[in-house]
Amino acid sequence: MADNTPSASSSAPVAVRLPSYTRTEQQSILGDGADPFGVAGTGLSWRGKDEHFGVLLGERLVAHAGLVALDTTVGEVATPVIGVGGVAVAPDVRGRGLARLVLDAALAHARTMGSPPARHALLFCRPPLVPMYRRLGWHPLDTDVLVEQPEARVVTMPLATMVMPLREGASWPAGPVRLLSLPM
Ligand SMILES: CC(C)(COP(=O)(O)OP(=O)(O)OC[C@H]1O[C@@H](n2cnc3c(N)ncnc32)[C@H](O)[C@@H]1OP(=O)(O)O)[C@@H](O)C(=O)NCCC(=O)NCCS
Repeated sequence: MADNTPSASSSAPVAVRLPSYTRTEQQSILGDGADPFGVAGTGLSWRGKDEHFGVLLGERLVAHAGLVALDTTVGEVATPVIGVGGVAVAPDVRGRGLARLVLDAALAHARTMGSPPARHALLFCRPPLVPMYRRLGWHPLDTDVLVEQPEARVVTMPLATMVMPLREGASWPAGPVRLLSLPM
């Protein structure tokens, strides 16, 4: 007899705001490997995010993006940003636009965050992901970016830094960038 029950694989993906995002949920997307984001080699310490967006396929959480409002200075200019991090799509459903879907939902919310609202989103990624983020509308920064680390250390971010305007006409200021936080 035919089974007409909708299965997770046949459901349309739905982007949702998540009430929380635990390590268990991250592991349900990316598995429990030691370095699911491929950044352990940097030796950096990372911070959590305050807001979480996900994609559900049926009842299964298959993608995530996190947000946190942070302060930066660019040259002498205080420049608040919405940091984006923890972008993840389950390996078996990659290449179907789910990173785009979850980032679109997260960035719609990012436009409402910060006081005053931030004019830019910022993320760090491995260099091989720069073309993907460019395709999604992000721009790489061609300048050193300093980030905080434990014990009051400040280090140069070895990964690529990308920014995205959150408001019409927002242009990233010129000058060296310092994130006044652990990276996200
Ligand atoms: C990186 C990752 C999130 C991408 O997820 P995904 O669901 O495969 O991405 P999408 O299918 O939404 O692709 C997004 C867009 O980038 C494009 N794209 C993907 N790889 C690309 C590449 N190498 N060059 C150019 N464009 C690329 C896609 O075609 C798509 O554009 P389109 O919607 O116009 O077709 C996923 O591979 C992942 O979870 N990796 C492990 C964790 C990680 O490294 N996260 C990144 C942290 S910064």
